[in-house]
Amino acid sequence: MKAKITLAKEFKIGDIDKRIYGSFIEHLGRAVYGGIYEPDHKTADEDGFRTDVINLVKELNVPIVRYPGGNFVSGYNWEDGVGPVEKRPKRLDLAWGATEPNTFGTNEFMKWCKKADTECMMAVNLGTRGADEARNLVEYTNHKGGTAWSDLRKSHGYDEPWGVKLWCLGNEMDGAWQMGAKTAAEYGRTALEASKMMKWTDGSIETVLCGSSSRNSKTFGEWEATSLDIAYDSVDYVSLHQYYGNHDGDTESFLAQTLELEEFIHTVLCVCDYIKAKKRSKKTINLSFDEWNVWYHSNDAEFERWSVAPPILEDIYNFEDALVVGSMLITLLRHADRIKIACLAQLVNVIAPIFTKTGGGVFKQTIFYPFEHMSNYGRGVALNPIINCPKHDTKRFTDVPYIESIATYDEENESLAVFCVNKSLDESAVLDVNLMDFDGYKPVKFISMDGYDKHQINTFDNISVKPHDNPLPAVDKGLLTAELKPFSWNVIILNKR
Ligand code: AHR
Repeated sequence: MKAKITLAKEFKIGDIDKRIYGSFIEHLGRAVYGGIYEPDHKTADEDGFRTDVINLVKELNVPIVRYPGGNFVSGYNWEDGVGPVEKRPKRLDLAWGATEPNTFGTNEFMKWCKKADTECMMAVNLGTRGADEARNLVEYTNHKGGTAWSDLRKSHGYDEPWGVKLWCLGNEMDGAWQMGAKTAAEYGRTALEASKMMKWTDGSIETVLCGSSSRNSKTFGEWEATSLDIAYDSVDYVSLHQYYGNHDGDTESFLAQTLELEEFIHTVLCVCDYIKAKKRSKKTINLSFDEWNVWYHSNDAEFERWSVAPPILEDIYNFEDALVVGSMLITLLRHADRIKIACLAQLVNVIAPIFTKTGGGVFKQTIFYPFEHMSNYGRGVALNPIINCPKHDTKRFTDVPYIESIATYDEENESLAVFCVNKSLDESAVLDVNLMDFDGYKPVKFISMDGYDKHQINTFDNISVKPHDNPLPAVDKGLLTAELKPFSWNVIILNKR
């Protein structure tokens, strides 16, 4: 097939907020214990953090990590996780049917963030608790000293405030599975009061209102409208969550789901702007897509109830999942003007790009690579590539373009990146990129992942699914031509210098 992309500096969607390359660590399964924290591990540092994992997190270049949940946060007492470790209580975690030892908590996570070169997006419990505990936590983490909560932090050995800037007002509060689930109106009131008091405690923070737990949630749309109407003046972002799975072996529809994702984002933006118009407000609410990924492989996994760090949600990702993750991230970037934060859920072991053996090694899952490429090369501004390519119908979708693409332009470094997924199972695409006012830019790298069976996975012993470099594409009179292999992930980098 033939495909054409036209690019120009004027096709700007928006500045890319680096937080769009965020991720997520929840007290869930082996994300914390056996994942980022394992004091007895041979690579553990003096704080018990696995340095083999930290090194991979740095490769992913993740600027922000959401913590501590997730469903977990809706039953969490943050006070359980601070102070002398020997005095911290063990608790039943009703969200995941596990025992939480609390040997890792807020200060340990903040320290880990520093070592992993990332920042924390902190969630507060608005399920079993409320505004009071939330504002106390802000005082504990962010106030310089001289008050009960800030002095408690100092007494725990942390003299300087952590300065956490971004806060989630609970998690998926529309879901029946959530501890302390609420109606939209109940949640709107709780979130408003919490956000207000948290911001009175520290005027520099931003807050995220929980949107629906997914586009399929029964109250989707109405939930956002009602809760935002109530909390509008105090919050900065609305959250979106979405996971996809290939439940019926229909690969083409699995990959086409980004059309649905596109519509989901568009609808939430419409709701935000409807409330803005209704209120005659000058303030714009942007989006925090703080949970997204493929999640379905591990759905039937069994585990021992009430054990510590049971191995749950341990999806082992295959090649087609990597293409879906790449396509999802491309879709998020196409809304870089309004999506300011996004979190690949999650980061280690639990539906994650990084997978460890407790007491053993670590490996990069297939989905590691598209995320790594976009996070490292996809900085600056997002450009809307005008794509001309054939379309196809799948069992669930019609008019699905074979090529999914986004371009990013880093003006400071005079660097342009083009990311493409070829969704055709069996056909290569000869791609022409019309470089318009990027004439003079030369390709310096062409990376792809292709040629694998769609079910191929990586393991501790064999990283068989990984990117490879290609010969550089030709450029003739401002037209770059590259071959995109069937069913492939592709990254083309061009520099002026
Ligand atoms: O990321 C796993 C879980 O998915 C989170 O705890 C919850 O918010 C969502 O349902």
